[in-house]
Amino acid sequence: MIDRQTVDRILDAANIVDVVSDFVTLKRAGANLKGLCPFHDDRTPSFMVSPSKNICKCFACGKGGTPVHFIMEHEQLTYPEALKYLAKKYHIEVKEREQTDEEKAEQSERESLFAVNEWANEWFQQQMNDTLDGRAIGLAYFRQRGFRDDLIKKFQLGFCPDKYDAQWKAGLEAGYNGDFLLKTGLCIRNEAGKTYDRFRNRVIFPIHTISGKVVGFGGRVLDSRTKGVQVKYQNSPESVIYSKKRELYGLFFAKKAIVQQDLCYLVEGYTDVMAMHQQGVENVVASSGTALTHEQIRAIHRFTENIVVIYDGDAAGIKASQRGIDMLLAEGMSVKLLLLPDGDDPDSFARKHTATEYQEYLKAHQVDFIQFKTNLLLEEAQGDPIKLSRLTGNIVQSLAVIPDEITRTFYIKETSQMLSVEERIITAAVAKVRKQQREERQREREREASRQQGAGATGTTSAGAPATTTEPASAAAAQGTPVLPQPSGTSPSSEQVPVLTPEEEAMLAGIIPEGSVLPTTNLQSKQQVEEAQLLQTEQLLVQLIVRHGEKVVFEAEDENGESRPITVVEFIQYALDEDGIQFQSPLHRRILAEALEHFHEEDFRCSRYFENHPDLAIAELSTELAHEKEALSKIHEKGIPIKPEEERLAELVPHLITDYKFAILERELREVMQQMSSPEVLADKERSIAVMKRFQELKQVQTALGRQLGDRVLT
Ligand code: CTP
Ligand code: MN
Repeated sequence: MIDRQTVDRILDAANIVDVVSDFVTLKRAGANLKGLCPFHDDRTPSFMVSPSKNICKCFACGKGGTPVHFIMEHEQLTYPEALKYLAKKYHIEVKEREQTDEEKAEQSERESLFAVNEWANEWFQQQMNDTLDGRAIGLAYFRQRGFRDDLIKKFQLGFCPDKYDAQWKAGLEAGYNGDFLLKTGLCIRNEAGKTYDRFRNRVIFPIHTISGKVVGFGGRVLDSRTKGVQVKYQNSPESVIYSKKRELYGLFFAKKAIVQQDLCYLVEGYTDVMAMHQQGVENVVASSGTALTHEQIRAIHRFTENIVVIYDGDAAGIKASQRGIDMLLAEGMSVKLLLLPDGDDPDSFARKHTATEYQEYLKAHQVDFIQFKTNLLLEEAQGDPIKLSRLTGNIVQSLAVIPDEITRTFYIKETSQMLSVEERIITAAVAKVRKQQREERQREREREASRQQGAGATGTTSAGAPATTTEPASAAAAQGTPVLPQPSGTSPSSEQVPVLTPEEEAMLAGIIPEGSVLPTTNLQSKQQVEEAQLLQTEQLLVQLIVRHGEKVVFEAEDENGESRPITVVEFIQYALDEDGIQFQSPLHRRILAEALEHFHEEDFRCSRYFENHPDLAIAELSTELAHEKEALSKIHEKGIPIKPEEERLAELVPHLITDYKFAILERELREVMQQMSSPEVLADKERSIAVMKRFQELKQVQTALGRQLGDRVLT
């Protein structure tokens, strides 16, 4: 860990013009500079660099940010790696933070395992290239499969000789601790206490992390042995440094090409990745024969949204991968699929075609997942109506997980055309599945809530009325996108569901059998507008935190009559706490929490901290908020000369808080009003009285708050 002070020194030293100029030729354009965007195929200079704001941005593709984000994106580095890159550029010595003993132990174990793997990787290569057996068996094997020497070298392929414990002995001799040779799984100790090499007599594919460190190996038996008892591939076992579900084979070699092409091919095996590189297609990774995991999808998503999954034409494999496709869709990726001719995998196919043919085939044969699934399933159903509606149901399930409404609508259209089913029916079916999913999530949330019973406290506003309860972080929260809060209670669907005729209803029931309730049409647009306004007010508060969080609003007296400065972020936290309110957006909550955690540190500045935040969602929002021109002035009266925001904090912060509380209260009122007109409440006298009473309380608070608001406008 780099300590905070060093991070700040790096961030302060990094000059955007300097940093970008290493990669992009910049020309003056008024107060800014501009050049061709390095992140997309730019014809007219769209990449702007602002020396005064110390940020850059492409106006065509939107990429950019602070110097550290530019380096992360351009060099495909992680946040700490980018910091180290900048430190080197500006000759800043990087001091790592003192670690706890546990951290040190774990760290040194990780480092030792990496060191052993690095050595083993060299050793395997040297065994293959510099020994007689290695050349005659290992290298010969790869060459005979058609792999060029430059590719063999690039992928650092190697060979482990057919000796019981050659590697074990070599490792010990080279000074490595036997424990680590066992923990990496390079060597195995049997019950009799004898130690032998896992990969003996296999050719070796090292597995690299995204930043190029070797975490494990895959070892393939030589052809002649494939039929025997041996497994074709032996892989390194899971260890402190290797988790199979996190790694994607080839990502290290592919990441630059993935970004450049804004596309990633997904294949199954090690040799498929190599074969495609050899054919000039470098944006390719392999899942190594297992089902795709969320971690792997996210790793790809860091670089692109577009993925083409390549299948070798065996139907079993295709079926098994359906879940993977739904996961990709749910992650918001745009998914295309490509089927290779019968019996071929990307590797064998490569051997039969020239590079140009290969690349053309890839371009011509990728289809979107709807076309792919439909074609596949139509063939299987062969006109059988029951099978057909089951097939439609299958596609509807995939459609329902697509998070983006526009994309979903687009695919619904396409599906209805391909299957010749009315679009309205597909729309209704998708809505039905989504509703079921929502209800399932709601139940899940309730179960979660009752598990950690008593947690979510409902507070009371200063004037005595209950304020809103807070929502648990949703799935979208984990991705860091600000989400509109879900209205509590009966959550109305924002999707428009067509009203169906009885015949259509019957068809729908055939497509999605269990449970036949359809969500009622409920537009609620006014409510949505108000929710959005609430969130906007919240964002204004967050803007104050990002710009001025660590600054003092005013001095307050404590119990002993001593005066103590209250910072912006503290003031906001107190005010929210007072009424048991939390920010609605998870992203806003995180900004507040982190500001609170750090504001007392020496030289801490919220703007610097958040604009350079490792989490891009936070960094982007903060950069936008930090540089927006005095947006807050609009809550002020026109005509009055406006002092800089920084000098008006004592007045701005409390005002915005009042606005925010007012908005929360209005929402509460809206909900109570909805309850008052619901048939269940109307039928229950006691409940309706309670709801009425609540309504009156809230009204009173509203009047009181309203007066505060009114006073403010007059003074
Ligand atoms: N795999 C594995 N263990 C096995 C079989 C397969 O880990 N026993 C993984 C490997 O990553 C392999 C991938 O699944 O690359 C795909 O398997 P397969 O198609 O059988 O192998 P190929 O990559 O085609 O290897 P080859 O062409 O050498 O047969
Ligand atoms: Mn193969």
